[in-house]
Amino acid sequence: MLEVKNLTKRYGSVAALDSVSLSLARGEFFGLLGPNGAGKTTLMSLVTGIRAADSGEILLGNVPFMPDDIAQRAQLGFVPQSIALYDELSGEENLRLFGGLYGLRGALLRERIAEGLAAAQLEERRHDKVESYSGGMRRRINIVAAILHRPQLLLCDEPTVGVDPQSRNAIFDFLEKLNDEGMTIVYSTHYMEEATRLCSRIGIIDHGKLLALGTLDELLTDLPFSEQIRIARNDSTTPHLAAFERFGKLNTTDDAYVLTPAPELRLSEFFSEAERLGIASRFFNVTRPTLENVFLHLTGKTLRDS
Ligand SMILES: Nc1ncnc2c1ncn2[C@@H]1O[C@H](COP(=O)(O)OP(=O)(O)OP(=O)(O)O)[C@@H](O)[C@H]1O
Ligand SMILES: [Mg+2]
Repeated sequence: MLEVKNLTKRYGSVAALDSVSLSLARGEFFGLLGPNGAGKTTLMSLVTGIRAADSGEILLGNVPFMPDDIAQRAQLGFVPQSIALYDELSGEENLRLFGGLYGLRGALLRERIAEGLAAAQLEERRHDKVESYSGGMRRRINIVAAILHRPQLLLCDEPTVGVDPQSRNAIFDFLEKLNDEGMTIVYSTHYMEEATRLCSRIGIIDHGKLLALGTLDELLTDLPFSEQIRIARNDSTTPHLAAFERFGKLNTTDDAYVLTPAPELRLSEFFSEAERLGIASRFFNVTRPTLENVFLHLTGKTLRDS
């Protein structure tokens, strides 16, 4: 569906995108996970033809992408990071306007608008001005505007920023439905929870470089450990930090110590020692690693800090 080869884009001395290559099959829900300034928006702006790359190739359905080719552009839908709607118009008027830009008219346009409003759960508010919408409602209308022409490939740039949890779930359901119906989706986010929940494959991007790409399981398998031990941080555990540290690397969070076991460690050895020290087992939790661990392993920093 989409193939990107050695795509590079510089802004002055900044390599916003540094030789990125990836290949997406039809029907994928692909996550682009990275912190602020990683290059997510830059990649989407090149793939949608909003900006031109300095070097590299973009193939859309095995054909070189020409931004001026209207038929190719019609295969793409783009939900920009900053919402692009007319505040003084109603939701439905906005959709009529965007649909018209894609060349939709008459009964087909009306049908697509009705479907979009229903899917976005905005039927009741369709005649209200967009300026009266909540952040989540604007986001949803923005997605509907991007899919009126039924693109084969939809690029969503952080579509849940500033959205309450309920609206976020409505957006997830909406995108999952579109994906189930066959739409290929590229979804950028700096929330690992979103990438974990939604995406069949995930690319981790930072400083313009694609650092890793795979399914969640593949990314987790590349870590040098397969579980961590969370130790509650309290008066029973704090005096024993030196003992814990003998088993691996210890990080301190607000409410816990997180032990990343040394590769040769057997968990049973750790728990025997804890028992010998008389620490109640309820203070320990064995956890599976997450994409946050993958990001930390690849970059040395957390997604939140960066
Ligand atoms: N128009 C521009 N002019 C100059 N530098 C830019 C421009 N657009 C992006 N950059 C720089 O390119 C890098 C990548 O930016 P980009 O917007 O692609 O990141 P992002 O991953 O989308 O970040 P965010 O999560 O904050 O949206 C950053 O260092 C940014 O400052
Ligand atoms: Mg961005």
